[in-house]
Amino acid sequence: MTDISTTAQWTAVEDLLPSIGEVSLREMFADDPERGRRLSVTAGDLHIDLSKNLVTDEILTALTELADIAQLPAQRAAMFRGDHINTTEDRAVLHTALRLPADADLVVDAQDVVSDVHGVLDRMTAFAHRVRSGEWRGHTGQRIDTVINIGIGGSDLGPVMVDKALRHFQADGIRAHYVSNVDPADLSATLAEIDPATTLVVVASKTFTTQETMANAHAARRHFIEELGSEDAIASHFVAVSTAADKVADFGIDAAHMFEFWDWVGGRYSVSSAIGLSVMLTVGPAAFVEFLEGFHTMDLHFATEAPADNAPVLLALLGIWYTCFLGAQSKAVIPYVQDLARFPAYLQQLTMESLGKSVRLDGSDVSYATGEVYWGEAGTNGQHAFFQLLHQGTQLVPVDFIGVAIPGEDLPTADGTGSMHDLLMANMFAQARVLAFGKTEEELLADGVDPALAPHKVMPGNRPSTTILAPSLSPGVVGQLIALYEHVVFTQAAILGINAFDQWGVELGKKQAGTLLDVLTADAHPGDQFDSSTDALIDIYREARGR
Ligand code: F6P
Repeated sequence: MTDISTTAQWTAVEDLLPSIGEVSLREMFADDPERGRRLSVTAGDLHIDLSKNLVTDEILTALTELADIAQLPAQRAAMFRGDHINTTEDRAVLHTALRLPADADLVVDAQDVVSDVHGVLDRMTAFAHRVRSGEWRGHTGQRIDTVINIGIGGSDLGPVMVDKALRHFQADGIRAHYVSNVDPADLSATLAEIDPATTLVVVASKTFTTQETMANAHAARRHFIEELGSEDAIASHFVAVSTAADKVADFGIDAAHMFEFWDWVGGRYSVSSAIGLSVMLTVGPAAFVEFLEGFHTMDLHFATEAPADNAPVLLALLGIWYTCFLGAQSKAVIPYVQDLARFPAYLQQLTMESLGKSVRLDGSDVSYATGEVYWGEAGTNGQHAFFQLLHQGTQLVPVDFIGVAIPGEDLPTADGTGSMHDLLMANMFAQARVLAFGKTEEELLADGVDPALAPHKVMPGNRPSTTILAPSLSPGVVGQLIALYEHVVFTQAAILGINAFDQWGVELGKKQAGTLLDVLTADAHPGDQFDSSTDALIDIYREARGR
């Protein structure tokens, strides 16, 4: 395969590097009064303003040519039609099929994928109606008002993020809790808050072998049997979401209570599969369908728009520009939407488990940076924590701001006349402006600032950001936002020639945890057998545990 960094198109981007040092965002905006409107795209309901990024038209064009030489359209078509693009696991990558309408056609590996997807969606819908209407009863005859989703990684982060995001759509009195960590504190704290008689546990695991999920699921199972007084309680209080029917049966969950998905859905791409069951239970099937339609809207945008108007492609190219050419190592995502507070954590798995790769598809080493460290926190909290580094620190950290025009709820400001939502959004727009345009020493001095303090108060500006503005945080918008970043990941991987759909890097740690567990818990000290650091830590730990 062609190493993208050896192409003339890559060199052309490199050659433009000095040009961005010669011009500032201030100058680019002054020279082009239309820049803000011109460098914005619409994708579904999202208005995406790219104008405060450190790019000229020439750089954007050169970056777009990277997508051409990497044959992005052909790679994209291969994903959408179900080719086995996850080569190390020999699997198709078809999360986009999870949101196809029922009348779409897609047959992959002799399977009618659309009919499979809608078959499961129909079962989820019927089940959600039964639970929400009170027809489905717990072991003691009470109706269900609480759901606990037990899962980790993609079997947790998507649903837990969406659960919070769609808080305003949870009208029918079912609330969800999410347990992921194998730290027993997680499950214990949740069990302390719920009544097993009115609680349904969704065990969500693609493989149904993940250590943490299985430990939590078995512990929850014991708790329910103890509290409800019978093993029979499991049938009415436990359901599963998985690809592994045999393992679900071994756990004691009836096939009728398992909601299936498929090996072509990666864990971190699975929130639009049955992994979203806990969300469907709380917001209802209609809102869940709207959520899926949001994904599909963005899928269509990504599949059909030309690069110059294609939001995921443009965001991906900017990411490559900052990491591979300008040396950025991280990217902050700051939702000025409290209900999206878990979105940065969700994106961490989506982007970093996907793009954290050092070899290309053919196994050769990459010679360029892959992926960014995604991080973030809801605005305005971040402003009072880490924004100082964004404004005056020495690192380049591109920022994605996310805001909505119509809030789920609003309150008056301190003087009782204004809107707290307007205050929130004024902060978001202000931060993007200050990052981009800063404040010079001359301006400070003109404002009468003490010359001794002026250097400390200079805001360098020229710090890039993208602003994503949605009408409101509807289910459709949440779906669009997730799909937007899914396709950013795909595009970056396609251009950089890496596999965004495997995650071999997490396997070794899982295996070693098994060996270490034996050593930690053995009756007799097994003696030093690791490195001197680990051996010493084991000694201290065993002693503290009285072993
Ligand atoms: O951390 C590795 C991983 O395989 C993730 O990719 C996945 O989302 C998570 O573990 C959970 O896996 P499962 O759904 O099989 O329990």
